[in-house]
Amino acid sequence: MVACARDADRLAEALAGVPGATGIPADVSSATERTALVERVVAEHGRLDAVVLNAALGYAALVEDTPQDAVEAMVATNLTGVVDLARLALPHLFTSAAERGRADILVTASSAALAQVPPLTIYSATKAGAHGFVKGLRREVTARGVRVHSVTPGPVSTEWLVRGRGAAPTSDADAEGRLSPGIRPERVAEQVARSLTSYWSRTVAVPRWMGVARLGEVPPIDRLLDMTLSRQTGRIRRVTERMVADRTR
Ligand SMILES: NC(=O)c1ccc[n+]([C@@H]2O[C@H](COP(=O)([O-])OP(=O)(O)OC[C@H]3O[C@@H](n4cnc5c(N)ncnc54)[C@H](OP(=O)(O)O)[C@@H]3O)[C@@H](O)[C@H]2O)c1
Repeated sequence: MVACARDADRLAEALAGVPGATGIPADVSSATERTALVERVVAEHGRLDAVVLNAALGYAALVEDTPQDAVEAMVATNLTGVVDLARLALPHLFTSAAERGRADILVTASSAALAQVPPLTIYSATKAGAHGFVKGLRREVTARGVRVHSVTPGPVSTEWLVRGRGAAPTSDADAEGRLSPGIRPERVAEQVARSLTSYWSRTVAVPRWMGVARLGEVPPIDRLLDMTLSRQTGRIRRVTERMVADRTR
């Protein structure tokens, strides 16, 4: 198993004690680094059986308050990075599927891909794009043995809120007290593991009841969300900034 992140020290910390795991520091928002990453994994391991596209950034803010570099980082990481890594991996996954009978691509999307809510409008748009990519790619590759999964978690207790604001923790100890509210990340990991052994391609919400987010597409609910949330933008801005400030000071 090969894992990737930009911070080499955190990557080593995360993989310490995981048998058979190696880390390759890389930035998946860079086209050059994506190509080098896939080439290196195949050169060192001889094959590619499954790709989990989990890296993403979220800058929690109203659209009007979001800086341009944050917009570009979210699109490059959450959407371009996902699509292009899948594209680069596909030839190797087809080989693996022909030899082993299966290969897998899994995208960590979000319930925000199913129902878009401020202050995550831009993030939600990138996740809706990644989720849509999964559905289209399935229709290209299923008959050739490649499963394509989308895991759509609701709020998970992780470092995303502070990482998105450029204040990522430098160690697990530094992360204490700075995590976002939500379920344990292990619950998402369990669904990732189940997907990688399931017979069919899966779309799975975590927890399962978060699948109700799809109801946001139903016209009367959609209209209701527009009317209520757009009247609350001042409050949404204040609550978001307080949550960020509490974790970054
Ligand atoms: N937390 C939630 O509430 C929630 C809800 C729904 C979906 N999700 C999704 O779950 C996935 C994991 O997010 P998380 O909540 O665990 O966030 P996180 O704590 O911020 O972790 C993100 C991970 O991605 C890596 N990463 C970020 N940008 C990268 C880049 N350009 N290249 C390589 N690695 C990069 C980070 O390491 P480096 O910074 O060292 O690169 C970090 O290991 C994401 O797809 C996120 O959108 C999260």
